[in-house]
Amino acid sequence: MHSDVDPAARIRTAAPPTAPGWDPQQYLRHSGHRTRPFLDLLARIPALPTRPGRPARIADLGCGPGNVTALLADRWPDARITGFDLSPDMLRRAEADHAGPTPGGGTLDFRRADIADWLPDDTYDLITSNAALQWVPAHPGSFAAWTAALRPGGTFAFQVPANHTAPSHALLAALCDSPRWRDRLAGQGSRHTHVLDPAEYLDRLTELGCTTDTWETTYHQLLPGPDPVLDWVKGTALRPVLTALRDDREAAETFLAEYRDLLREAYPTGPRGTVFPFRRIFAVAVKEA
Ligand SMILES: C[S@@+](CC[C@H](N)C(=O)[O-])C[C@H]1O[C@@H](n2cnc3c(N)ncnc32)[C@H](O)[C@@H]1O
Repeated sequence: MHSDVDPAARIRTAAPPTAPGWDPQQYLRHSGHRTRPFLDLLARIPALPTRPGRPARIADLGCGPGNVTALLADRWPDARITGFDLSPDMLRRAEADHAGPTPGGGTLDFRRADIADWLPDDTYDLITSNAALQWVPAHPGSFAAWTAALRPGGTFAFQVPANHTAPSHALLAALCDSPRWRDRLAGQGSRHTHVLDPAEYLDRLTELGCTTDTWETTYHQLLPGPDPVLDWVKGTALRPVLTALRDDREAAETFLAEYRDLLREAYPTGPRGTVFPFRRIFAVAVKEA
């Protein structure tokens, strides 16, 4: 009987996780709501320690399709900016849409890298990451190496989604681990949930000698159209499930129908659309000048 099986053992015996396949087009369908937290983060990043003749050097970890990376060039027009990502599909889109010289005399380029073992290849004025570190369980363990590579007065700034206890993400995790799906999907619904609380990020980054500001915000997003929460999650948290079921279309459709029904109950559509509250955590850590 499934119910007799220790849940941890089930996760250990599930198929080893492959890197989720990403779909830039699906991800960009909600780019307005997804960009807003980065703009809020950007607003809290202080001036970088640049000077004439030495433009800023910036890294964007988990850059995705590069639209957010490009916003860095708006703020620091002559900067040399590199976006790093693991997904070849995301990198292709970023290259096609944003790579090359920027209007302010800087450059934008994109490289393949796994954040889990990324070590700075340069001295940086800013290392940033938007909505990506939650996929990397041990990311706080890299903070020491990343902040060590900052120029004095440089900044490490990131935003991570923290919606894992919300119905959208809790229902996904529970469905993947349910008796019906766990043989194929155990653990796949919670691959993106590796975040600390703002207070823990604050502790770790101040311990590293940075002046740190952490906070959280819940955005009450009003989404249009039918099943918009499902459409949203298809761009992110559902990626591991869609990847695991990619060779079994019937199973994928059945899973999506079951999940969609749960979401319809949890997020009823109102006269003006569907409200999808989304909690996010922010950190801005400035190295001593
Ligand atoms: C939700 S998207 C965010 C993209 C972009 N930063 C933005 O804000 O639009 C998450 C990105 O993290 C990338 N990612 C996930 N795990 C990664 C890893 N271990 N190393 C590098 N990139 C990773 C994914 O490929 C994806 O492009």
